[in-house]
Amino acid sequence: MRDDNRRIGIMGGSFDPIHNGHLAAAEAARRNFGLDSVLFIPAGKAPHKNDGAVTRAARRFEMTALAVAGNLYFEASSIEIERPGVSYTADTLDEIKWRHGKKTKLFFIAGADAVAEMFTWKSPERVFKACSVIAAARPGVAGETLDRQIAAARERYGARIFMLETPPLAISSTDIRRRIQIERPVRYFLPEIVEQYINQRRLYRDDRYDMEAAERRVSSKLSDKRWRHTMGVIDDSVRLAEIYGINRRKAYITAVFHDCAKELSSEEKLRRCDELGIQLDNITRSQPDLAHGPLSAEIARTEFNVDDPEILNAIRFHTTGCEQMSLLDKILLTADCTEPNRNHAGIEEIRKTALINLDKATALCLRMKIAYTESKRQMVHPLSLKALKEMEGMEEMGDKI
Ligand SMILES: [Fe+2]
Ligand SMILES: [Fe+2]
Repeated sequence: MRDDNRRIGIMGGSFDPIHNGHLAAAEAARRNFGLDSVLFIPAGKAPHKNDGAVTRAARRFEMTALAVAGNLYFEASSIEIERPGVSYTADTLDEIKWRHGKKTKLFFIAGADAVAEMFTWKSPERVFKACSVIAAARPGVAGETLDRQIAAARERYGARIFMLETPPLAISSTDIRRRIQIERPVRYFLPEIVEQYINQRRLYRDDRYDMEAAERRVSSKLSDKRWRHTMGVIDDSVRLAEIYGINRRKAYITAVFHDCAKELSSEEKLRRCDELGIQLDNITRSQPDLAHGPLSAEIARTEFNVDDPEILNAIRFHTTGCEQMSLLDKILLTADCTEPNRNHAGIEEIRKTALINLDKATALCLRMKIAYTESKRQMVHPLSLKALKEMEGMEEMGDKI
Protein backbone atom coordinates (compact mmCIF):
# COMPACT_ATOMS: atom_id res chain seq x y z
CA MET A 1 0.00 0.00 0.00
CA ARG A 2 1.33 3.41 -0.90
CA ASP A 3 1.43 6.19 1.63
CA ASP A 4 1.84 9.42 -0.32
CA ASN A 5 3.00 11.54 2.60
CA ARG A 6 5.95 9.50 3.66
CA ARG A 7 9.29 11.13 4.34
CA ILE A 8 12.06 8.89 3.10
CA GLY A 9 15.75 9.38 3.70
CA ILE A 10 18.09 8.28 0.92
CA MET A 11 21.55 7.28 2.00
CA GLY A 12 23.71 6.72 -1.04
CA GLY A 13 27.36 5.75 -1.23
CA SER A 14 29.76 3.10 -2.39
CA PHE A 15 29.49 1.40 1.03
CA ASP A 16 32.80 -0.29 0.32
CA PRO A 17 32.39 -1.14 3.16
CA ILE A 18 29.47 0.47 4.99
CA HIS A 19 30.57 1.67 8.45
CA ASN A 20 29.31 3.18 11.69
CA GLY A 21 29.77 6.73 10.36
CA HIS A 22 27.11 6.04 7.70
CA LEU A 23 24.78 4.42 10.22
CA ALA A 24 25.17 7.17 12.82
CA ALA A 25 24.54 9.93 10.25
CA ALA A 26 21.45 8.12 8.90
CA GLU A 27 20.03 7.62 12.38
CA ALA A 28 20.65 11.27 13.33
CA ALA A 29 18.98 12.41 10.09
CA ARG A 30 16.01 10.12 10.72
CA ARG A 31 15.44 11.51 14.20
CA ASN A 32 16.17 15.18 13.47
CA PHE A 33 14.05 15.33 10.33
CA GLY A 34 11.24 12.98 11.36
CA LEU A 35 11.91 10.52 8.56
CA ASP A 36 9.69 7.45 8.32
CA SER A 37 12.53 5.35 6.95
CA VAL A 38 15.98 5.52 5.47
CA LEU A 39 16.87 3.66 2.28
CA PHE A 40 20.53 2.69 1.96
CA ILE A 41 21.37 2.48 -1.70
CA PRO A 42 24.80 1.11 -2.60
CA ALA A 43 25.98 2.83 -5.77
CA GLY A 44 25.85 0.78 -8.94
CA LYS A 45 28.23 1.56 -11.73
CA ALA A 46 29.22 5.04 -10.63
CA PRO A 47 29.80 7.56 -13.41
CA HIS A 48 32.83 8.97 -11.55
CA LYS A 49 34.47 5.73 -10.54
CA ASN A 50 35.69 2.77 -12.49
CA ASP A 51 34.12 0.13 -10.27
CA GLY A 52 32.05 -2.25 -12.30
CA ALA A 53 32.70 -5.68 -10.82
CA VAL A 54 29.34 -7.37 -10.30
CA THR A 55 30.51 -9.57 -7.44
CA ARG A 56 31.92 -6.52 -5.76
CA ALA A 57 28.57 -4.71 -6.10
CA ALA A 58 26.72 -7.75 -4.76
CA ARG A 59 29.05 -7.90 -1.78
CA ARG A 60 28.63 -4.21 -1.05
CA PHE A 61 24.88 -4.75 -1.09
CA GLU A 62 25.11 -7.79 1.20
CA MET A 63 27.24 -5.87 3.70
CA THR A 64 24.77 -2.99 3.61
CA ALA A 65 21.82 -5.34 4.16
CA LEU A 66 23.59 -6.94 7.13
CA ALA A 67 24.49 -3.55 8.62
CA VAL A 68 20.94 -2.16 8.52
CA ALA A 69 19.15 -5.34 9.58
CA GLY A 70 19.12 -4.30 13.25
CA ASN A 71 17.21 -1.05 12.68
CA LEU A 72 13.47 -1.25 11.91
CA TYR A 73 13.58 2.07 10.08
CA PHE A 74 16.49 1.19 7.84
CA GLU A 75 16.30 -0.72 4.59
CA ALA A 76 18.90 -1.70 1.99
CA SER A 77 17.94 -1.19 -1.64
CA SER A 78 19.58 -2.81 -4.66
CA ILE A 79 17.88 -0.39 -7.04
CA GLU A 80 21.15 1.04 -8.41
CA ILE A 81 23.06 -2.21 -8.46
CA GLU A 82 20.34 -3.92 -10.49
CA ARG A 83 20.01 -1.12 -13.00
CA PRO A 84 22.11 -1.86 -16.08
CA GLY A 85 24.65 0.71 -17.20
CA VAL A 86 25.94 3.72 -15.32
CA SER A 87 23.82 4.87 -12.36
CA TYR A 88 22.69 8.45 -12.03
CA THR A 89 21.16 9.74 -8.81
CA ALA A 90 18.52 11.70 -10.74
CA ASP A 91 17.20 8.41 -12.23
CA THR A 92 17.30 6.70 -8.83
CA LEU A 93 15.29 9.48 -7.19
CA ASP A 94 12.70 9.37 -10.00
CA GLU A 95 12.36 5.62 -9.61
CA ILE A 96 11.86 5.86 -5.85
CA LYS A 97 9.23 8.55 -6.29
CA TRP A 98 7.49 6.41 -8.86
CA ARG A 99 7.49 3.43 -6.48
CA HIS A 100 6.37 5.34 -3.39
CA GLY A 101 4.02 7.91 -4.83
CA LYS A 102 4.50 11.43 -6.11
CA LYS A 103 3.82 13.13 -2.80
CA THR A 104 6.54 11.21 -0.99
CA LYS A 105 9.18 13.60 0.25
CA LEU A 106 12.74 12.48 -0.36
CA PHE A 107 15.69 13.60 1.76
CA PHE A 108 19.06 12.84 0.27
CA ILE A 109 21.56 12.39 3.11
CA ALA A 110 25.04 13.34 1.95
CA GLY A 111 28.39 14.03 3.52
CA ALA A 112 29.22 17.73 3.40
CA ASP A 113 31.96 16.99 0.85
CA ALA A 114 29.43 15.26 -1.40
CA VAL A 115 27.22 18.37 -1.51
CA ALA A 116 29.89 20.17 -3.53
CA GLU A 117 30.19 17.16 -5.81
CA MET A 118 26.45 17.23 -6.52
CA PHE A 119 27.02 20.16 -8.87
CA THR A 120 29.04 17.89 -11.10
CA TRP A 121 26.42 15.17 -11.27
CA LYS A 122 24.27 14.63 -14.33
CA SER A 123 21.20 16.91 -14.22
CA PRO A 124 21.78 18.62 -10.84
CA GLU A 125 18.59 20.60 -11.37
CA ARG A 126 16.61 17.33 -11.48
CA VAL A 127 18.35 16.05 -8.36
CA PHE A 128 17.75 19.22 -6.34
CA LYS A 129 14.14 19.34 -7.54
CA ALA A 130 13.43 15.72 -6.63
CA CYS A 131 14.77 15.84 -3.08
CA SER A 132 15.85 17.94 -0.16
CA VAL A 133 19.43 17.47 0.93
CA ILE A 134 20.55 16.77 4.47
CA ALA A 135 24.24 17.65 4.66
CA ALA A 136 26.13 15.78 7.34
CA ALA A 137 29.32 17.50 8.49
CA ARG A 138 32.48 15.61 7.66
CA PRO A 139 35.73 16.02 9.54
CA GLY A 140 38.07 18.21 7.54
CA VAL A 141 35.40 20.05 5.54
CA ALA A 142 35.54 23.69 6.58
CA GLY A 143 32.28 25.33 7.57
CA GLU A 144 32.80 28.46 5.47
CA THR A 145 33.52 26.53 2.27
CA LEU A 146 30.42 24.47 2.84
CA ASP A 147 28.28 27.55 3.51
CA ARG A 148 29.45 29.04 0.21
CA GLN A 149 28.65 25.85 -1.68
CA ILE A 150 25.22 25.59 -0.11
CA ALA A 151 24.44 29.24 -0.93
CA ALA A 152 25.48 28.65 -4.55
CA ALA A 153 23.27 25.53 -4.83
CA ARG A 154 20.31 27.41 -3.40
CA GLU A 155 20.79 30.29 -5.80
CA ARG A 156 21.44 28.25 -8.91
CA TYR A 157 19.01 25.36 -8.45
CA GLY A 158 16.63 26.45 -5.72
CA ALA A 159 18.10 23.60 -3.70
CA ARG A 160 16.65 22.82 -0.28
CA ILE A 161 19.67 22.00 1.83
CA PHE A 162 19.64 21.44 5.59
CA MET A 163 22.58 20.90 7.89
CA LEU A 164 22.61 17.84 10.10
CA GLU A 165 23.55 18.95 13.58
CA THR A 166 25.40 15.93 14.83
CA PRO A 167 29.05 15.38 15.61
CA PRO A 168 30.66 13.61 12.65
CA LEU A 169 32.38 10.28 13.17
CA ALA A 170 35.90 10.34 11.78
CA ILE A 171 35.56 7.01 10.00
CA SER A 172 36.02 6.46 6.29
CA SER A 173 35.69 3.41 4.06
CA THR A 174 39.08 4.19 2.52
CA ASP A 175 40.70 4.15 5.94
CA ILE A 176 38.95 0.89 6.84
CA ARG A 177 40.15 -0.78 3.61
CA ARG A 178 43.68 0.44 4.26
CA ARG A 179 43.62 -0.82 7.84
CA ILE A 180 42.35 -4.25 6.79
CA GLN A 181 44.99 -4.47 4.08
CA ILE A 182 47.75 -4.02 6.63
CA GLU A 183 45.88 -6.21 9.11
CA ARG A 184 45.09 -3.53 11.66
CA PRO A 185 41.98 -3.86 13.83
CA VAL A 186 38.74 -2.23 12.64
CA ARG A 187 36.63 -3.19 15.65
CA TYR A 188 33.97 -0.53 16.44
CA PHE A 189 34.56 1.15 13.05
CA LEU A 190 31.77 -0.91 11.54
CA PRO A 191 29.08 -3.36 12.72
CA GLU A 192 30.52 -6.62 14.01
CA ILE A 193 28.47 -8.64 11.52
CA VAL A 194 29.99 -6.68 8.62
CA GLU A 195 33.46 -7.24 10.03
CA GLN A 196 32.73 -10.99 10.18
CA TYR A 197 31.50 -10.92 6.57
CA ILE A 198 34.73 -9.19 5.49
CA ASN A 199 36.90 -11.64 7.44
CA GLN A 200 35.13 -14.73 6.15
CA ARG A 201 35.63 -13.67 2.54
CA ARG A 202 39.03 -12.08 3.15
CA LEU A 203 37.84 -8.88 1.44
CA TYR A 204 40.26 -5.96 1.02
CA ARG A 205 43.27 -8.10 1.82
CA ASP A 206 46.22 -8.35 -0.46
CA ASP A 207 46.45 -12.09 -1.12
CA ARG A 208 48.38 -11.82 -4.34
CA TYR A 209 51.37 -13.74 -3.07
CA ASP A 210 51.29 -17.30 -1.81
CA MET A 211 53.65 -16.83 1.10
CA GLU A 212 54.09 -20.52 1.92
CA ALA A 213 55.02 -21.37 -1.67
CA ALA A 214 57.47 -18.44 -1.74
CA GLU A 215 59.13 -19.66 1.46
CA ARG A 216 59.38 -23.21 0.15
CA ARG A 217 61.00 -22.15 -3.09
CA VAL A 218 63.47 -19.69 -1.61
CA SER A 219 64.49 -21.96 1.29
CA SER A 220 65.32 -24.73 -1.18
CA LYS A 221 67.85 -22.38 -2.83
CA LEU A 222 69.64 -21.35 0.38
CA SER A 223 71.86 -23.00 3.01
CA ASP A 224 70.35 -23.59 6.46
CA LYS A 225 72.37 -20.71 7.86
CA ARG A 226 71.25 -18.23 5.18
CA TRP A 227 67.63 -19.39 5.52
CA ARG A 228 67.78 -18.90 9.33
CA HIS A 229 69.04 -15.37 8.67
CA THR A 230 66.19 -14.84 6.16
CA MET A 231 63.61 -16.00 8.71
CA GLY A 232 65.07 -13.55 11.22
CA VAL A 233 64.80 -10.75 8.66
CA ILE A 234 61.17 -11.78 8.00
CA ASP A 235 60.33 -11.51 11.72
CA ASP A 236 62.01 -8.15 12.17
CA SER A 237 60.60 -6.72 8.92
CA VAL A 238 57.05 -7.69 9.82
CA ARG A 239 57.44 -6.21 13.30
CA LEU A 240 58.75 -2.92 11.87
CA ALA A 241 55.97 -2.91 9.24
CA GLU A 242 53.43 -3.10 12.07
CA ILE A 243 55.09 -0.27 13.97
CA TYR A 244 55.44 2.03 10.95
CA GLY A 245 52.04 1.19 9.45
CA ILE A 246 52.89 -0.47 6.17
CA ASN A 247 51.54 -3.66 4.65
CA ARG A 248 52.90 -6.63 6.62
CA ARG A 249 52.56 -8.95 3.64
CA LYS A 250 54.70 -6.66 1.53
CA ALA A 251 57.36 -6.59 4.24
CA TYR A 252 57.16 -10.37 4.48
CA ILE A 253 57.59 -11.02 0.76
CA THR A 254 60.42 -8.47 0.56
CA ALA A 255 62.30 -10.23 3.35
CA VAL A 256 61.72 -13.73 1.93
CA PHE A 257 63.38 -12.84 -1.37
CA HIS A 258 66.00 -10.32 -0.27
CA ASP A 259 68.98 -12.72 -0.26
CA CYS A 260 67.82 -15.34 -2.74
CA ALA A 261 70.92 -14.76 -4.91
CA LYS A 262 73.32 -14.23 -2.01
CA GLU A 263 74.93 -17.65 -2.09
CA LEU A 264 75.84 -17.74 -5.75
CA SER A 265 79.61 -17.50 -6.32
CA SER A 266 81.06 -14.12 -7.36
CA GLU A 267 81.51 -15.29 -10.95
CA GLU A 268 78.00 -16.68 -11.04
CA LYS A 269 76.55 -13.42 -9.69
CA LEU A 270 78.25 -11.36 -12.39
CA ARG A 271 77.35 -13.86 -15.10
CA ARG A 272 73.67 -13.95 -14.12
CA CYS A 273 73.56 -10.14 -13.92
CA ASP A 274 74.95 -9.92 -17.45
CA GLU A 275 72.53 -12.57 -18.65
CA LEU A 276 69.56 -10.75 -17.17
CA GLY A 277 70.73 -7.40 -18.52
CA ILE A 278 71.33 -5.88 -15.07
CA GLN A 279 73.67 -2.89 -15.45
CA LEU A 280 76.41 -2.94 -12.82
CA ASP A 281 78.72 -0.06 -11.95
CA ASN A 282 82.46 -0.55 -11.53
CA ILE A 283 82.38 -0.66 -7.73
CA THR A 284 79.79 -3.45 -7.79
CA ARG A 285 81.82 -5.31 -10.43
CA SER A 286 84.88 -5.12 -8.18
CA GLN A 287 82.85 -6.21 -5.12
CA PRO A 288 80.47 -8.79 -6.64
CA ASP A 289 78.73 -9.52 -3.35
CA LEU A 290 77.03 -6.11 -3.73
CA ALA A 291 75.38 -7.50 -6.87
CA HIS A 292 73.22 -9.88 -4.86
CA GLY A 293 70.77 -7.01 -4.17
CA PRO A 294 69.88 -6.23 -7.79
CA LEU A 295 70.21 -9.89 -8.77
CA SER A 296 67.85 -11.11 -6.00
CA ALA A 297 65.32 -8.49 -7.11
CA GLU A 298 65.55 -9.64 -10.72
CA ILE A 299 65.23 -13.32 -9.75
CA ALA A 300 62.18 -12.47 -7.58
CA ARG A 301 60.67 -10.71 -10.58
CA THR A 302 61.47 -13.22 -13.30
CA GLU A 303 61.30 -16.54 -11.44
CA PHE A 304 58.71 -15.81 -8.78
CA ASN A 305 56.53 -13.22 -10.54
CA VAL A 306 56.97 -10.55 -7.85
CA ASP A 307 55.91 -7.45 -9.76
CA ASP A 308 55.50 -4.85 -7.02
CA PRO A 309 58.04 -2.09 -7.74
CA GLU A 310 58.30 -1.12 -4.05
CA ILE A 311 59.23 -4.67 -3.08
CA LEU A 312 61.72 -5.00 -5.93
CA ASN A 313 63.32 -1.64 -5.09
CA ALA A 314 63.79 -2.57 -1.44
CA ILE A 315 65.47 -5.86 -2.41
CA ARG A 316 67.59 -4.16 -5.10
CA PHE A 317 69.08 -1.61 -2.72
CA HIS A 318 69.22 -3.49 0.58
CA THR A 319 72.99 -3.90 0.34
CA THR A 320 73.84 -0.28 -0.43
CA GLY A 321 70.83 1.86 0.47
CA CYS A 322 69.66 4.41 -2.09
CA GLU A 323 68.43 7.97 -2.46
CA GLN A 324 64.93 8.79 -1.23
CA MET A 325 64.50 5.53 0.62
CA SER A 326 60.90 4.42 1.13
CA LEU A 327 59.66 3.02 4.44
CA LEU A 328 59.96 -0.47 3.00
CA ASP A 329 63.56 0.21 1.83
CA LYS A 330 64.50 1.35 5.34
CA ILE A 331 62.69 -1.53 7.02
CA LEU A 332 64.51 -4.19 4.97
CA LEU A 333 67.92 -2.55 5.30
CA THR A 334 67.46 -2.24 9.08
CA ALA A 335 65.94 -5.69 9.65
CA ASP A 336 68.80 -7.19 7.63
CA CYS A 337 71.22 -5.75 10.24
CA THR A 338 69.19 -6.31 13.39
CA GLU A 339 67.64 -9.76 12.91
CA PRO A 340 68.14 -12.02 15.96
CA ASN A 341 71.01 -14.08 14.48
CA ARG A 342 73.20 -10.97 14.09
CA ASN A 343 75.61 -10.41 16.89
CA HIS A 344 77.96 -7.52 16.22
CA ALA A 345 78.98 -4.64 18.46
CA GLY A 346 76.36 -1.94 18.90
CA ILE A 347 73.54 -4.15 17.63
CA GLU A 348 71.38 -3.73 20.75
CA GLU A 349 71.36 0.04 20.33
CA ILE A 350 70.22 -0.29 16.70
CA ARG A 351 67.51 -2.78 17.71
CA LYS A 352 66.13 -0.40 20.32
CA THR A 353 66.38 2.62 17.99
CA ALA A 354 64.55 0.77 15.19
CA LEU A 355 61.44 0.55 17.36
CA ILE A 356 61.21 4.31 17.84
CA ASN A 357 63.09 6.09 15.04
CA LEU A 358 63.50 4.23 11.75
CA ASP A 359 65.57 6.98 10.09
CA LYS A 360 68.04 6.94 12.95
CA ALA A 361 68.22 3.13 12.87
CA THR A 362 68.76 3.15 9.08
CA ALA A 363 71.55 5.71 9.52
CA LEU A 364 73.19 3.54 12.20
CA CYS A 365 73.03 0.49 9.90
CA LEU A 366 74.51 2.44 6.98
CA ARG A 367 77.35 3.73 9.19
CA MET A 368 78.04 0.18 10.30
CA LYS A 369 78.12 -1.08 6.71
CA ILE A 370 80.40 1.78 5.65
CA ALA A 371 82.78 1.20 8.57
CA TYR A 372 82.91 -2.52 7.71
CA THR A 373 83.71 -1.81 4.05
CA GLU A 374 86.41 0.67 5.05
CA SER A 375 87.92 -1.84 7.50
CA LYS A 376 88.39 -4.18 4.55
CA ARG A 377 90.01 -1.32 2.60
CA GLN A 378 87.33 -1.50 -0.02
CA MET A 379 85.62 1.35 -1.78
CA VAL A 380 82.34 2.49 -0.20
CA HIS A 381 79.48 2.55 -2.70
CA PRO A 382 78.45 6.18 -3.39
CA LEU A 383 74.77 5.23 -2.94
CA SER A 384 75.51 4.30 0.68
CA LEU A 385 77.07 7.73 1.30
CA LYS A 386 74.13 9.49 -0.35
CA ALA A 387 71.61 7.43 1.61
CA LEU A 388 73.46 8.16 4.87
CA LYS A 389 73.54 11.88 4.14
CA GLU A 390 69.79 11.90 3.55
CA MET A 391 69.10 9.85 6.66
CA GLU A 392 71.23 12.19 8.77
CA GLY A 393 69.15 15.14 7.50
CA MET A 394 65.97 13.31 8.44
CA GLU A 395 67.35 12.30 11.83
CA GLU A 396 67.93 15.98 12.58
CA MET A 397 64.42 16.86 11.48
CA GLY A 398 63.10 14.06 13.69
CA ASP A 399 65.13 15.41 16.63
CA LYS A 400 63.65 18.88 16.18
CA ILE A 401 60.14 17.48 16.36
FE1 LIG B 1 71.71 -9.27 1.56
FE1 LIG C 1 70.34 -10.45 4.32
